[in-house]
Amino acid sequence: MFAVTADRIDASDPMAGLGLGEHPDPEPAPGWTTVQVRAAALNHHDLWTLKGVGISQDRLPIVLGCDAAGIDEDGRAVIVHAVIGDPAAGGGDETLDPRRTLLSERYDGTFAEAVAVPRRNLVPKPAELSWAEAACLPTAWLTAYRMLFTRSGLSPGDRVLVQGAGGGVATALIVLAKAGGFEVYATSRDGAKRERALSLGADAVFEPGARLPERVDAVMETVGQATWDHSLKSLKPGGRVVVCGATSGANPPAQLNRVFFLQLSVVGSTMGTLGELDRVAQMCARQGLVPLVDTTYDLREARPAFERLAAGEVFGKIVLTNHA
Ligand SMILES: NC(=O)c1ccc[n+]([C@@H]2O[C@H](COP(=O)([O-])OP(=O)(O)OC[C@H]3O[C@@H](n4cnc5c(N)ncnc54)[C@H](OP(=O)(O)O)[C@@H]3O)[C@@H](O)[C@H]2O)c1
Repeated sequence: MFAVTADRIDASDPMAGLGLGEHPDPEPAPGWTTVQVRAAALNHHDLWTLKGVGISQDRLPIVLGCDAAGIDEDGRAVIVHAVIGDPAAGGGDETLDPRRTLLSERYDGTFAEAVAVPRRNLVPKPAELSWAEAACLPTAWLTAYRMLFTRSGLSPGDRVLVQGAGGGVATALIVLAKAGGFEVYATSRDGAKRERALSLGADAVFEPGARLPERVDAVMETVGQATWDHSLKSLKPGGRVVVCGATSGANPPAQLNRVFFLQLSVVGSTMGTLGELDRVAQMCARQGLVPLVDTTYDLREARPAFERLAAGEVFGKIVLTNHA
């Protein structure tokens, strides 16, 4: 089958290790099944893999991609859950299984004509979403859902700040936060992206680092080092910063004085459970929420899609489609 793979690791030139071509068909293990991929969304995770973050050379070549929507062996339209883990080993939450892995880390991922996954890792695709829109849910939208509704401690009516509005997770956060009844502030480096954040539902937008008219109950962090100082300064006493990523760097000054004096909470969040994926899909269907697709490319034209993601030009999700 055709597949997009990480063939080697190159931290300074990640595109150099990107492979496009033939790859062995999936051979599902007992309890696993095969999904014919119709659409698969790109994530920053795919770039991290090419840079060697979270993977070692001995796992390569490996098919990239965490997210997919497609057709299962029974002909059903499904969304693939990217977290391979045992809920029992994680106290009922597969994201807390110490042996948890994501598609494309130990097992071949979704940027291929077909992908093998555990049978439990499928949820129905809502008819209201296109293949490309549904393919945005398993990583960016699931992560945003868990950050906001499981990890943030926010109640409807609270105020939340979303940093780096243009990102895949950030656009999902804005839409879901608005639908969840929060007042939504967002920052972006780019004026046009700030305007688009308003059209997505943000109540007010700001340049990175700008003083906010009022402090917020929680900050949703995906940018990391570049925005961390602003995130901590923007919180009310007792506020919470929920962090799922650190695109611009993972080691900003910790500002421990501010953390303890204002009794702030720093909370990590990663992906979500199968149940949360099903709930975010149902929420989209019921409330008419549509994942924002920045651009789509044919699976066989994946290279410019990766270059666009790496350039940080996106507003929403880049999706690869498979028409073969
Ligand atoms: N833990 C998890 O489960 C999980 C799941 C998904 C993603 N993540 C992580 O979360 C991060 C975001 O993922 P994504 O897929 O949403 O990435 P993305 O689509 O590439 O978005 C990144 C956004 O961050 C902002 N940004 C990047 N560099 C910046 C800088 N130097 N200063 C200010 N803003 C900057 C930009 O927003 P503006 O251009 O609007 O400023 C950009 O659009 C990644 O690090 C990813 O690995 C983690």
